[in-house]
Amino acid sequence: MSAINNAINPVTTDLCQFIYVSRITSTGLSSPSTLSDISEISIRNNEEDAITGVLCYGNGYFLQCVEGSEQDLTNLKNRLLLDNRHKEMKILSFEEITERRFFSWWLRSIMLERWITKGFELKEFMPFEPYNLDDKELKSFLNILQEYYQDQVRTGSVDTSPVKYSTLGVTLSKVVGQHQAFFLIQTVLGVLVVMALLWLMLSDKIW
Ligand SMILES: Cc1cc2nc3c(=O)[nH]c(=O)nc-3n(C[C@H](O)[C@H](O)[C@H](O)COP(=O)(O)O)c2cc1C
Repeated sequence: MSAINNAINPVTTDLCQFIYVSRITSTGLSSPSTLSDISEISIRNNEEDAITGVLCYGNGYFLQCVEGSEQDLTNLKNRLLLDNRHKEMKILSFEEITERRFFSWWLRSIMLERWITKGFELKEFMPFEPYNLDDKELKSFLNILQEYYQDQVRTGSVDTSPVKYSTLGVTLSKVVGQHQAFFLIQTVLGVLVVMALLWLMLSDKIW
């Protein structure tokens, strides 16, 4: 895959894009503030290094797309490789670009499971399994994010609510993300059983 070759031998230009996927570790899951901690340090560092981009989290996976100078992105990549909040980092691309996709954000953090409730087009990527994305799907995924954020900039309605979640929330979203249909059916069946019991009790059929 040429993108991986590029990652090993990054091109020497001023503006590059670095995209990777990784998996959250138990260390990452054990702290309720992992995402907001990452977000906070990233915004501070990325602003200093003029790095822009997005960080998506869903189903226990990260997908990050960042843009900046080759040197700054290489430094970031080296820091990321040492970070024990995630593992199994797979570089999807490290290549020269002519313009930034996410020029307005030092780092936008996105909780994917939270977003699909808004009827957002990312639904088609759920449950989120970024290791399986091919080049075309990755482009389409990034296009959807880019368009959404450009619209927010145009309309001045940028959603800047901080990313906060609890350990339980993460664990639940991980499980629920994978078994949404199962949980839905179980809930519906449970409600039906309770209603049937109530009906039998009220119509004196049990006692
Ligand atoms: C999934 C993930 C994404 C991250 N993204 C960034 C980032 O965009 N910029 C950044 O500076 N640090 C990012 N970090 C944090 C770095 O791994 C590292 O902890 C941080 O850059 C260290 O900063 P410091 O040397 O200023 O303490 C990320 C960490 C994780 C786990």
